[in-house]
Amino acid sequence: MPSLRAGLLIYSPLFLTDHRFQKKRTTKTPMTTPTASDSLLVGRLQEATDQFVLEFTASVNFDRRMYSQDIRGSVAHARMLAAIGVLTRDEAARIVAGLETIHKEIDSGAFEWKVALEDVHMNIESRLTDLIGDTGKKLHTGRSRNDQVATDIRLYLRDSIDRIDALMSPLLDALLAKAAEHADTIMPGFTHLQPAQPVTFGHHLLAWFEMLLRDRERLRDCRRRVNRLPLGSAALAGSTFPLKREQVAEELGFDTLCENSLDAVSDRDFAIEFAAVASLAMVHFSRWCEEMIIWASQQFQFVSLPDRFCTGSSIMPQKKNPDVPELIRGKTGRVTGHLMSLLTLMKGQPLAYNKDNQEDKEPLFDSIDTLSNCLTALNGLIPNLEANRENMAAAAINGYTTATDLADYLVKRGMPFRDAHHVVGRVVARAVKERRQLHEFSLPELQAEGGGANAVSADVFDVLQPIGSANARSHTGGTAPAAVRSAIERAKQRLQI
Ligand code: ARG
Repeated sequence: MPSLRAGLLIYSPLFLTDHRFQKKRTTKTPMTTPTASDSLLVGRLQEATDQFVLEFTASVNFDRRMYSQDIRGSVAHARMLAAIGVLTRDEAARIVAGLETIHKEIDSGAFEWKVALEDVHMNIESRLTDLIGDTGKKLHTGRSRNDQVATDIRLYLRDSIDRIDALMSPLLDALLAKAAEHADTIMPGFTHLQPAQPVTFGHHLLAWFEMLLRDRERLRDCRRRVNRLPLGSAALAGSTFPLKREQVAEELGFDTLCENSLDAVSDRDFAIEFAAVASLAMVHFSRWCEEMIIWASQQFQFVSLPDRFCTGSSIMPQKKNPDVPELIRGKTGRVTGHLMSLLTLMKGQPLAYNKDNQEDKEPLFDSIDTLSNCLTALNGLIPNLEANRENMAAAAINGYTTATDLADYLVKRGMPFRDAHHVVGRVVARAVKERRQLHEFSLPELQAEGGGANAVSADVFDVLQPIGSANARSHTGGTAPAAVRSAIERAKQRLQI
């Protein structure tokens, strides 16, 4: 039996053993002297878990990052067990002290993680019994790993959401500061990546701000559904002990309890929701990054990125590559992929807990890490984004971007919009042919094209310039410098909420 690794049994704790799987032991057992803990399982266990299966089913290599949450959950559970008389005060105190020691061991790197103990929960519980003896074995009373892991993930995700939220705040502030700096900076606005109408750079930055503010709203909304306590659901049906779930919820800072034990141990919709929130944020970032990459190109030269956020080429000495925005754009794929993984993982699972759910962690953790790193990168990029005002302004007039303004002008002088659209289309066609800008036409030429002296007067030249075009859009949500300034003031108020 080559797969029999008796050595593993030595540190297999009781709760690792699946007593249902038995085979007559046919070979001499090369077991060392049973220890206090494994002597109890020797009688039943006839075959050790296959080494490959042990490694295949283990999650400790990735779920150990939840150790702090696992310990917090166990401390709260132990205190509650003491409150209902299942543990004595002294037992609970020893458990809590042991868990604190373990926390320090893990923090310092002294803790020995064992794959044979499968996951973070059993590694910690086993060590607790090593440290404090039999009292450690009482911790798992009224609890299952099913409600334990669901609690740990929710705590971990809640902590991560709070860190991500804290990374979003300076970025929102930086966008507002940049927008204020560039409230008057004129640039071309695009549709289909073709010059469309002049806008202010400040207005463009406020568009990014709106995206990010919605991302933060979604994050905070998601947190409300994450922050519910599953513990007390035990394996699936609840517990025979009179658990005080409210006490645990309060100690751990949960807003409320998960109401149904079957649902609490099995659903991971809160993780899926977070992955959706993260995906949308990343999709937004990928759009900003794409714009920064285009703007930083030699063809545009609208912005320059800080050198320390760019890299050179190993062969082309002149290169300054926008690697950081490119990577953010690229990393978006991982996060949207994780959303698909999690959705597919959940699909078709019968109630209640299934081992499938162990697969929730890697996509979730990587979504958290990727989003956090991209936010850190953007916090470095955005405040240091240098705009080239001259190039932006020069580009703002190219492509007849004030043609709509001329049409609006004619409408205000009494021409139906469709006719005005037609007239301006003709003027633009002529301008293209004669290689001229609209403001380079003389007043008589415009009058001749545009329905006579009554329809066009000298003030037409105001709207043919990009700044006039932008200034005219001064309503709420418009691109005028004045509108941008008042939008920034409102945005500051909205950030207070
Ligand atoms: N490591 C497991 C997970 O992540 C813990 C729960 C295991 N429960 C069980 N009954 N096998 O889901």
